[in-house]
Amino acid sequence: MSEFVMAARLDEIPDPGQLLVEVDDQLVVLFHVDGQVYCLDDVCTHDGGPLGEGVLSDHAISCPRHGAKFDIRSGAALTMPATEATRRHQVKTEDGLVYVRIFGEDNAVTDANESHEASAFGTAGESLRGDSAATGNAEIDRPRSSIVPIEEPAAVAGVVTEDRVMDQLRNVVDPELFVNIVDLGLVYVIGLSDGDEGKTNVTVDMTMTSPACPAGPQLIADSRSRIGQLDGIGNVEIRIVMDPPWTPDRMTDEARDQLGIF
Ligand code: FES
Repeated sequence: MSEFVMAARLDEIPDPGQLLVEVDDQLVVLFHVDGQVYCLDDVCTHDGGPLGEGVLSDHAISCPRHGAKFDIRSGAALTMPATEATRRHQVKTEDGLVYVRIFGEDNAVTDANESHEASAFGTAGESLRGDSAATGNAEIDRPRSSIVPIEEPAAVAGVVTEDRVMDQLRNVVDPELFVNIVDLGLVYVIGLSDGDEGKTNVTVDMTMTSPACPAGPQLIADSRSRIGQLDGIGNVEIRIVMDPPWTPDRMTDEARDQLGIF
């Protein structure tokens, strides 16, 4: 089991704020909020982003790469695209000094009375204290980002309805998560109106899993292309709205199954 190691002086860490330090040859981030200090790996479980460079807001740190948020008290992933907790380490402060004990496979198990699993979208408020231990080793076995090509558009005959537009949008897959945007709960409103020459204009209000979602342009282009496959389509307008913001509870059970979230 690793020992506590002096990691920083408390007055080196702004409150609120964070400080990147090295402990036992590992980069970890110390967070200081309301006089409490917490410690997480400097690793976003989505794709390895540096959490120490993220924006701290209350008890949440946003990954600077794609915007996933983690609870600094538990390491739990709070928002997409991260679904796995990042590892939390034990912290204590004495005489103005901050000590960290790195948690690995060994002591995460033996210290079970102080630990809990920081699950994906975990309830951060449960028995979470900055000076307590936690597991939550971040094994990343999910697919990494990649481009999902869509097929060449082919006309789909029939009267344009909201249901048929929604069905087309089920073919649009988030390249980060490999789940279609309807099951992810990204599609908010579909509007139909009369267009020129008897055609039907379509507007779609949809959101992203985070404001900084890098897949946004691709999802918009794919959505427009898929809707354009319907016979009798006029103008297609895709509007990105961030209010209300997307939350994981908008996902269908199918999406949860695909992502391994229970
Ligand atoms: S690497 Fe952190 S959200 Fe993608």
